[in-house]
Amino acid sequence: MATTQTKPKTPAKQAAAKSGAATGSQKEPKTLHDLLEEALKDIYSAEMQLTEALPLMAKACESEDLQDAFTNHLQQTKRHAERLEKVFNRLGIDKSEIETCKAMQGLIAEAKKIMEEFEESPVRDSALIIAAQKVEHYEIASYGSICELCDVLGHRKTGELLGRTLDEEEETDELLTDIAQEINDEACDMSEGQGEEEEEDEDET
Ligand SMILES: [Fe+2]
Repeated sequence: MATTQTKPKTPAKQAAAKSGAATGSQKEPKTLHDLLEEALKDIYSAEMQLTEALPLMAKACESEDLQDAFTNHLQQTKRHAERLEKVFNRLGIDKSEIETCKAMQGLIAEAKKIMEEFEESPVRDSALIIAAQKVEHYEIASYGSICELCDVLGHRKTGELLGRTLDEEEETDELLTDIAQEINDEACDMSEGQGEEEEEDEDET
């Protein structure tokens, strides 16, 4: 019976074979520009998902202040998406290949669960603020890192434009914190005597 013998591979060849070079499927290493492009597409998907979720959240609020905050942020969110479209044009990014941002999908699913499970009340408003602030923090982290990448890569104009969006996300987060103070007091009054006991002060390590 004939036997076939193969030459032992050198470590470099073994590594190349592992990464797919031997089959011609080797991918180019990703660059910082790729990272920026992926981050921009991710936040664009997030903003587009939010434009659908915010009207539902505004409708579900009892507090007029909170309803106004969500409605105003919807207008801002539409502007944020437009700014990203400008950036795609400027940087030559094809926005037809955008994957759904899974993180935003999950955060919106949490908000929808609140709308299903809580009756309309200050407690539901408190829960919606928490859900909305999780969304804002995701956006703040995303735009913060995008602005840093723009800075490093020398995209000064893009960094400035998206820096405006970052400021607006931070302002929305602060506004929600302010609204929460009043709503949480109301929610707390509503919940008084419903089984909760005050914690005793004790030293914790
Ligand atoms: Fe936004």
